[in-house]
Amino acid sequence: MNVMRHISVPNRQVEQALGLIREHDLLAPAMHVFPTEDGDSRLIPLDLGASPSLPEGLAKFEVVEHEGKPDERTDSDWWGYLRALIGEDTVDQHGEAWPSSHEFFGDMMIVRLDDEVAHYSQQIASAKLQSHPHIRLVLSDRGVLGELRIRDLTPIGARRGDEIILENIPDDLTITRVMIRESGRSILCDPTRAYFSTKLQTERLETLALAKELRSLLGRPLRVCDPFCGVGPALATLLGEPDLVGEALASDLNPDAVEMLFDNLRRWDNRDYPSDSIPLSQIHPDRLVGVADATSLPSNPKFSGSWDLLLVNLPHRTIELLPSLVPLLDTRFPSLIRGRVIVAESEIAAANAAIRSALPNRLEGAPEPVLRIKRDYSSTLRLCSFEAWMAITSEGE
Ligand SMILES: C[S@@+](CC[C@H](N)C(=O)[O-])C[C@H]1O[C@@H](n2cnc3c(N)ncnc32)[C@H](O)[C@@H]1O
Repeated sequence: MNVMRHISVPNRQVEQALGLIREHDLLAPAMHVFPTEDGDSRLIPLDLGASPSLPEGLAKFEVVEHEGKPDERTDSDWWGYLRALIGEDTVDQHGEAWPSSHEFFGDMMIVRLDDEVAHYSQQIASAKLQSHPHIRLVLSDRGVLGELRIRDLTPIGARRGDEIILENIPDDLTITRVMIRESGRSILCDPTRAYFSTKLQTERLETLALAKELRSLLGRPLRVCDPFCGVGPALATLLGEPDLVGEALASDLNPDAVEMLFDNLRRWDNRDYPSDSIPLSQIHPDRLVGVADATSLPSNPKFSGSWDLLLVNLPHRTIELLPSLVPLLDTRFPSLIRGRVIVAESEIAAANAAIRSALPNRLEGAPEPVLRIKRDYSSTLRLCSFEAWMAITSEGE
């Protein structure tokens, strides 16, 4: 399931809206415009790079999150090229084992190869490259490795001009360090060196909306703590909103992620940042950035009791770490924790109870933290998110 932003436009205004969207280069490529359930409007898919605030003429339309509908033409092209390369019978023989979906990562495409068809990797790469002319490099994905959540990727095909290269791919074509456009920002990332997912834009926009709510409650810019920040995509979205972020702490255990984070912050923040990764340091009076083990932060008086918004994005361990991370919040004010969790669907009720018992001091009148399923992680596990509004606590509580 790939949920993405669409604008909902009444039928008679669609031509005019599409014109504006094309003029501003905001239309998602290879995705369909399709009617709403009542048939009165059309949903127009927005490019991942489109800024959260839309230009004049489009800002009046409602933005809705909806599963995108891929344009089957590129899909049927891929099957056509594959059939031409290996024959109709072989394609039919392996049926569902072929990689029908893929993930775009800048000008790269990442595919997961089922063992059954892994030995056709070159033909798969060739068919994908032929059906997606803007793609430079196709990589096969063997999953995410270790604590740092880095992907195990192998180049299986590349393009130079009109030529498709499937063997001895030159080094200059296998570069995986790319800029991704998201919500009006460029994010430098390299999936072979640090975690980044293009599928979390909706999540980040939800965090932005919640952060704005917290700002209205506090009446001032927020102190944001992102101790599992990776290359910084959550901050990209938050820093894009004027006067939303006051102070920020951004850290990660992975030095490679921090090196790219510095590069990103230099552009988003318009200030100097080191060129190499360094331990968590006060880089500017309002910016603490660098390499750190998040579990060591709460016991350090320099970092504890200082933050309004805490992002906990280590989904395999969020619930386990939550109690020890709470002391990072400044409990003299209402505050917010936004977290992601991977859990078996059958365990969601127990996980909700665990979150509530880890966070006893919740803001009265605010909705209780509950896990919302965002997508499947495996056949039994679900990727969920939650937010917990925390109350002021008196000394010693
Ligand atoms: C799921 S990724 C999320 C990254 C980023 N927040 C994002 O949304 O792209 C989890 C991140 O936590 C980092 N990490 C894992 N264990 C950590 C620890 N103990 N302290 C700090 N960071 C850690 C990993 O390196 C990885 O970048």
